[in-house]
Amino acid sequence: MAEAKFLSALALASVIACPQFSSAESANTTITFTKDIAPILQEKCQACHRPDSMAPMSLVTYEDVRPWAKAIRERVLTRQMPPWHIDKTVGIQKFKNDRSLSDAQIGTIVKWVDAGVPKGDPKDMPPPKQWPDESKWTRLVSTSCELKPTMRAEMAVPAFNAAGRTCM
Ligand code: HEC
Repeated sequence: MAEAKFLSALALASVIACPQFSSAESANTTITFTKDIAPILQEKCQACHRPDSMAPMSLVTYEDVRPWAKAIRERVLTRQMPPWHIDKTVGIQKFKNDRSLSDAQIGTIVKWVDAGVPKGDPKDMPPPKQWPDESKWTRLVSTSCELKPTMRAEMAVPAFNAAGRTCM
C-alpha cells in the first residue's frame, strides 16, 4: 500500500520534472500542422481566413496553409496578423475575444515553418471549426423585429411598448 503510494508520487514527480512530455515546443517533439498549428489557426485566424470569408486565402487545411507558410511566419513575427491594434506593452491587457497570438503561439508557428512545415499525423487534426452560416444569419436578422425602423421610436418611449409590442 505504502509502496503503491510512493510509486504514484514518483510517477507524478517525473511528469512534473519532465515537462517535455506535455510541451509541444520541446526539442523532442516535432511541431506538426495537425497537432499544433491547426488549433491555433482555428482559434486565431479562421474567423477571417476561411473559404468565402473576408481574407484573401483560406487557412483551414494543410494544403491551404502550406503555400503561405513563409508569409505566415513573416506576418505573425511582425504581429501584422492577426490584426490586433492594441499595444502589448501598455494598459489593459486582458480582453474578451482576444484574437492576438501569445508569444508561445508565435514561437510554435515560427519553429514549425523553420522545421519545413511538417504535416504530422492526420489523426491529430482537430475537427473543423463550425462557423455560423452567414447567409442564414442575415436572413434571420432581417425578419426579426429588432432591426425594423420602428425600433428607434420604441427606444425613445419605452413605456409605450412594455406590453405586447408588435412588428410593423
Ligand atoms: C480580422 C480578420 C483576420 C484575421 C483574424 C487574420 N487575418 Fe490574415 N489577413 C486578413 C486580411 C483582410 C488580409 C489581406 C490584407 C493584408 O494582406 O493585410 C490578410 C492577409 C494575411 C496574409 C498575407 C497574405 C498575402 O497576400 O501575402 C497572411 C500570411 C495572413 N493574413 C495570415 C494570418 C494568420 C496566420 C492569422 C492568424 C494567426 C491571420 N492572418 C488572422 C484578415 C485577417
